[in-house]
Amino acid sequence: MSIEEIIIDDHNVKEFVEQKTAEISVIVGDGIAINALSGGVDSSTVTMLGHKALGERLKTYFIQNGLMRKDEPQKVLSIFKELGVNVEIIDAQDEFFDALKGITDPEEKREAITQTFYKKVFGKLVQESGAKFLLQGTILTDVDETVAGIKRQHNVFEQLGIDPQKAFGYRIIEPLVQLRKDSVRKVGKYLGLPASIFDRIPFPGPALAARVIGEVTPEKIEIVRQATHIVETELAHVSAFQYLAILHQDKVTGVRDGKRDFGMQIEIRCWDSIDARIAEPTRLPYHTLDKLANRIVNEIPGVVSVTYNITPKPPSTIEAI
Ligand code: XMP
Repeated sequence: MSIEEIIIDDHNVKEFVEQKTAEISVIVGDGIAINALSGGVDSSTVTMLGHKALGERLKTYFIQNGLMRKDEPQKVLSIFKELGVNVEIIDAQDEFFDALKGITDPEEKREAITQTFYKKVFGKLVQESGAKFLLQGTILTDVDETVAGIKRQHNVFEQLGIDPQKAFGYRIIEPLVQLRKDSVRKVGKYLGLPASIFDRIPFPGPALAARVIGEVTPEKIEIVRQATHIVETELAHVSAFQYLAILHQDKVTGVRDGKRDFGMQIEIRCWDSIDARIAEPTRLPYHTLDKLANRIVNEIPGVVSVTYNITPKPPSTIEAI
């Protein structure tokens, strides 16, 4: 069954919001729903939509999975506090790192994250809160890529024939599933999100685990977190669709202070795209690349090589796994 795309503009945004809030209210009735807010565009938009529909009957959680960007929980909590939305942090770092231990295959990593999110963490939250519904910000691109077998996006079930009620014990509501990213941004803006959120570059559900090639460990996540912070700071002025840092598995020989240094490699990607279906590497000025490389090798111990991806999608994809 294919999903019909809705393209949002100034004329239909109000109607879309009213229709979706009404649908959420009808489905949840006088029950309780929960949702996980990561601070990304999709989950932030769905949080606002859900609170408009359900008020206090939507419980919003920030899952601290240990895979988030620098200072993310504090930043997200303070933005949503300003918006009048209470967010509770759930510390699930050990669960995620345990689940990822020893796994190197990209799809197996994604599956481990999916099971930990939906079965372990949400399963427990659903039981404790008495909720019967999980509200989430799946968008059309997530469904397309999963159904096409390109990547198993962590948040897609029914389109793969998985019944969340049977698999996890709760229903999933996906009000944004007919939208692509540019439309989600317009809905988020309409719902009062600040530009720092609705205009934010996309960030994947599996978080920094999607940017570590090979086994994911807390130490590797910390390296890619530092590199991500540098890339996001240095490229904040660039009007690109998305930019990111990847930690490679293979080490390479470098030289530091006249001595051999067999060290890590960071790959930078920066994309021009409308909706992530196709993308072109941004033609960044050389002095920008130069600054990125210098900061990364000087500020992150153990990194000796920085490369820039110049391959379009396809055949590349935006993330590395
Ligand atoms: P790819 O790497 O497939 O990414 O070219 C396309 C867009 O989707 C984001 N992405 C994800 N988003 N769950 C998400 O919510 C996921 O599992 C996931 N994997 C990739 C990616 O950042 C890009 O914007």
